[in-house]
Amino acid sequence: MRLFNFLLGVIALLSVGFATDNGLQKVVSWDKYSLLINGERVFVMSGEFHYQRLPVPELWLDVFQKFKANGMNTVSIYFFWSYHSASQGTYDFTTPGKDIQLLFNMAKEAGLYVIARPGPYCNAETNAGGFALWTSDGSGGKYRTSDETYRKAWSEWIKEVGVIIEKNQITNGGPVILVQIENELQQTKYDPNDTLVKYMEQLKTAMREAGIVVPLTHNEKGFRSKSWSTDYNNVGGAIDVYGLDSYPGGLSCTNPDTGFNLPRTYYQWFQTVSFTQPEYLPEFEAGWFQPWGGYFYDQCQAERSPEFADVYYKGVIGQRVTLLNLYIAFGGTNWGHSAAPVVYTSYDYDSPLRETREVLDKFKQFKLIALFTRVSNGLQKTVMESNGTGNAVDKPAIWTWVLRNPDTQGGFYLAENNNTRSRAVTDFTMTVNTSAGKISIPNMQLSGRQSRWVVTDYPIGNETLLYSSAEVLTYGTFDRPVVVFYLKGGQTGEFAFRSLQQNSTFKTYGAQSDFKSTQGNGTTKFVYKQGKGATIVQFSNGVLAYLLDIPTAYTFFAPATTSNPSILPDQQIFVLGPYLVRSAKVDGRVVHVVGDNANSTTIEVYLGKQEVNTIEWNGKELQTTRTKYGSLVATIPGAEDRSISFPSLTDWKSADSLPELSPSYDDKNWKIVNKTSTLSPVKPLTLPVLFSSDYGFYTGAKIYRGYFDGKTATSANITVQGGNAAGWNAWLNGKLVGGHNGNASQTATTVLLKFENASLKDKDNVLTVVTDYNGHDQTSTGPAGGENPRGILGATLLGANNQKLDFSRWKIQGNAAGSANIDAVRGPMNEGGLYGERLGWHLPGFDTSRWEAGSPLDGLDKSGIRWYTTRFDLKIDGDLDVPLGVELGATKETPARVMVFVNGYQYAKFLPHIGPQTRFPIPPGIVNTRGPNTLSISLWAQTDSGAKLSTVGLFEYGRYQSGFGFGGIKGERLQPKWTDRMKYA
Ligand SMILES: *[C@@H]1O[C@H](CO)[C@@H](O)[C@H](O)[C@H]1NC(C)=O
Ligand SMILES: *[C@@H]1O[C@H](CO)[C@@H](O)[C@H](O)[C@H]1NC(C)=O
Repeated sequence: MRLFNFLLGVIALLSVGFATDNGLQKVVSWDKYSLLINGERVFVMSGEFHYQRLPVPELWLDVFQKFKANGMNTVSIYFFWSYHSASQGTYDFTTPGKDIQLLFNMAKEAGLYVIARPGPYCNAETNAGGFALWTSDGSGGKYRTSDETYRKAWSEWIKEVGVIIEKNQITNGGPVILVQIENELQQTKYDPNDTLVKYMEQLKTAMREAGIVVPLTHNEKGFRSKSWSTDYNNVGGAIDVYGLDSYPGGLSCTNPDTGFNLPRTYYQWFQTVSFTQPEYLPEFEAGWFQPWGGYFYDQCQAERSPEFADVYYKGVIGQRVTLLNLYIAFGGTNWGHSAAPVVYTSYDYDSPLRETREVLDKFKQFKLIALFTRVSNGLQKTVMESNGTGNAVDKPAIWTWVLRNPDTQGGFYLAENNNTRSRAVTDFTMTVNTSAGKISIPNMQLSGRQSRWVVTDYPIGNETLLYSSAEVLTYGTFDRPVVVFYLKGGQTGEFAFRSLQQNSTFKTYGAQSDFKSTQGNGTTKFVYKQGKGATIVQFSNGVLAYLLDIPTAYTFFAPATTSNPSILPDQQIFVLGPYLVRSAKVDGRVVHVVGDNANSTTIEVYLGKQEVNTIEWNGKELQTTRTKYGSLVATIPGAEDRSISFPSLTDWKSADSLPELSPSYDDKNWKIVNKTSTLSPVKPLTLPVLFSSDYGFYTGAKIYRGYFDGKTATSANITVQGGNAAGWNAWLNGKLVGGHNGNASQTATTVLLKFENASLKDKDNVLTVVTDYNGHDQTSTGPAGGENPRGILGATLLGANNQKLDFSRWKIQGNAAGSANIDAVRGPMNEGGLYGERLGWHLPGFDTSRWEAGSPLDGLDKSGIRWYTTRFDLKIDGDLDVPLGVELGATKETPARVMVFVNGYQYAKFLPHIGPQTRFPIPPGIVNTRGPNTLSISLWAQTDSGAKLSTVGLFEYGRYQSGFGFGGIKGERLQPKWTDRMKYA
């Protein structure tokens, strides 16, 4: 017995070679081929997701299920310090949108591993790159160095978030397998005394102190430097598993013919920098972000092309990558003021899962690759055998990567166009090495922007494919092996089984694919031309094959029968037909399938169990028949015939949101601006310091009032910094004296305000300056990143002949209660300092009955800020998912700043004169799909020509019949109601 156990141990050791662990645990280890979990190799197919960008916890599970259904086994997550910590020493992990324990639970429920990325710096195009905004006044010290002030600041965050990550490590039964420290921090010096080396060591120590035992990782910023690898100039600061971020697409929104050059340097890079570790891409292009004034994501069809997924994701796997994380798989929304100035409200990113949570074709194409990696054990351990143009093929226009498993000799040949951008169609012959010798496969074809796997000696349960040029989507071992192939319609596929010698027979069902067998060299070859739809072939060796064209393959799913993210070939059910399959489960004679569907279609389920004879779809048993080859077939409904009506937005009430211009306005509750020094690394242009963070106001608009006496002033020179495209205006004694409309490429603007049209008084003239805000900078924006100040940088009062005069005093007002976070549920970034925001006019339950009627379609006839509120009810059936949005329009000629609040959440920022976004998705839970809603708009007219909207309405992006239960989402707890806020007037 003991000898037997010993032998088992030896065999286990041999089969994994000598995997490395970090000495703290044995569950997650690695070698130069792959990550191993509990000694089993795993091919990590991951998607990035930021819960902060989707503040409805129920929908985290929706996203996770969609990741899983489309082949992912892992989710990679940034944790933004800014979202959880409104002020030094306070941390919120309990209000619904910040309950990360729930997040981990849901990942586990969906069967996903988690890669946790808590920063402290994240970048991510989020406000200040994720740094807590209370550090933006300079109290954060020297960001991203070993500076002691900075260390003290981030240590509290890592301690707080670390406790929760610690509990959720795989070693404690949770889903966390890897933890990343910092983000794209480039190593500049290989010197143990360098501040960056010390900083990385500090972070490693802090993680260990928090109890993090799983391997630590980091992500190199492209091919720019060689950082923190134990294999490369390790002087300290190195992490366990090195990773490389890469965004190589170079795609253009307008010209589909540029870019699309896949680099061929990944293998060699990893061989140089991290040759003892698996090839890990912690961020690989899944899309790209767009700036203010840029394009809208729906315009960028090149980024959405499934060809991109096919060529790029296969292309890096062909270079031996075994950990791949798509950045970003679901982008979500920069609601509130969570955007960095480099992006606008939408963070759709052209990601595979759209901001509306709809699955794009690019994701479906990814699924074909991901499901292949799930069951292709041989691919988890390969050596690069050869590569090049004309390598293993007879045409120089084709490049191949040849990977081979050193234990089984199974081969993986990836054919791609030598010029990956090419749209040429090339026919070629490939010659592969198999256990039966060299075999030539004629009649292969690559369309432009297509790549194809050819496998050799590829096991499918108790059978083995000797070779196949039909691409393997996946296989399962049911009552018999079932292999699923896919090909472009019209292309030729060829394969042979190792076991089938002469005279084997087959039967085909379904679409015509001209399926033939030929005898040759002791093997039976099968050759077909892919027809439209699905052809099913039953072979005399018992194997069943599905031959799918691409559109049909997009509707193929392999839901797991285990919640373990690593899935064995016998732990799947095959489903063909729907838009989405979330889960499938057998119970007696019924297979319960849960999913989503747009248009009524057939559903086919293969599970190899005679006793099961009925399909249940979303809780309803279906009229089910059995096919001759043993699958179950039925028809499932869509949502095409369901009636949904959106109310048009009418009955607007309106009020002035800039009473600060009135001579009778009293600013007694405002903060006095009196600081003569600042911790900020940026020097104020004038004193007192007018930086808003120095007075505890971080997000949204800030309003300043500068007082001066006498009639001699003729102008004021004002510099305001609010991030790209932020604008501002100034009124002297209630009269507009100018400002800046904002510019997408400027973060600060300076204007000399002339007072010629204003009338001055002997005492207490008031210059009211309203400054807009598009976020704090990331560290890539100099000179001080997140510590670049916001608000007024300098204000000089001038008399005739540019004589300098003095303001007698300044006051400032920002978001209600500043950093006190009085609306913790919506969190510290939702609000700014407009009068309407301070008084909570955006919140449900605020009484507008005494307001006048007035619509944003009528707007303002001069400069100013007005508030508009309406209410509407929705009655969308609970079994539907109807992603909906708010559409806004206005002429580009009128500079205006518009925000939309839905049930208190600022979910749209619209700058008609800058663009590009006019359509804003609102997720269920923020909008009540079965109940009452409050919608508010703040409209800031920047010139005395006034401003109005030309469009404001609701619309649907799509509709799906769903078993998820969207109707059960409890929005109320996310939408605290109005309470009296008069003290912030
Ligand atoms: C690092 O600093 C310490 C203390 O100042 C010094 O003794 C040591 O020589 C330095 N190491 C290097 C490699 O410069
Ligand atoms: C091609 O394969 C050879 C042999 O393994 C290897 O030395 C070379 O680096 C590979 N080339 C590329 C571009 O990866």
